[in-house]
Amino acid sequence: MTQHLWTQLDDLVSAKTMSADPILESVLLSNRVAGLPAIDVSPAQGKFLHLVARMTAAARILEIGTLGGYSTIWLARALPDKGRLISLEFDPHHATVARNNIANAGQAEKVKVLTGAALDTLPQLAEQGIGPFDLIFIDADKDNMPTYLDWAVRLSRPGTVIICDNVIREGAILDAGHPDPRVQGVLQTLAAIGANPRLSASVLQTVGAKGHDGFAIAIVD
Ligand code: SAH
Ligand code: DHB
Ligand code: MG
Repeated sequence: MTQHLWTQLDDLVSAKTMSADPILESVLLSNRVAGLPAIDVSPAQGKFLHLVARMTAAARILEIGTLGGYSTIWLARALPDKGRLISLEFDPHHATVARNNIANAGQAEKVKVLTGAALDTLPQLAEQGIGPFDLIFIDADKDNMPTYLDWAVRLSRPGTVIICDNVIREGAILDAGHPDPRVQGVLQTLAAIGANPRLSASVLQTVGAKGHDGFAIAIVD
């Protein structure tokens, strides 16, 4: 009942405030055909990420967790002409689907999808002197989220915005002893954000088509 209401309202506000988007709809279709899990951000959440990127005038974006490139394309569309986005994806099949979707969305010139475990590709970025990034979206495996946060701060400058997805998990984080390592990863991440004097943060809880979840949003001082 509650989920039905959230989904109806998500559909309503999206229909009122966003125009039809055949390109992004085709991304979701191609993901489904390719057998990717439907765990992309929702349209309203993708638009939200896009707005944050524009509000911060982000020209260099890092994403950890590409899937089929749905959030990637929302973010890439916010970039200026010379802006660039790097997205990290472990699964080669996901990366292939994403590169194809990104090309079909006309964003191939701006976006590079790096295949590999982010714990391997993040140090490579640092070694190559890539960064700092203006905006970093963390949305990969949640058990490694605390380490991704450390890398995100390392690849930041004062003013960089870091956003972590899926930090509420329908309230599962209320159980401090929860056995799911993803819940523990999120709890450690929230604690690390609070303990880091360089980060100012808040958590935006979300309800909608994807259930009850939330974004942690931090700025690096
Ligand atoms: N940001 C996407 C959804 C990402 S889903 C969107 O909203 O459209 C999470 C992705 O992280 C999956 O594709 C998964 O394969 C990837 N992933 C899981 N473990 C990873 C790791 N260790 N390194 C990089 N990516 C990983
Ligand atoms: C899952 C991952 C996500 O990033 C998400 O937004 C929803 C679900 C998952 O792994 O189940
Ligand atoms: Mg997510």
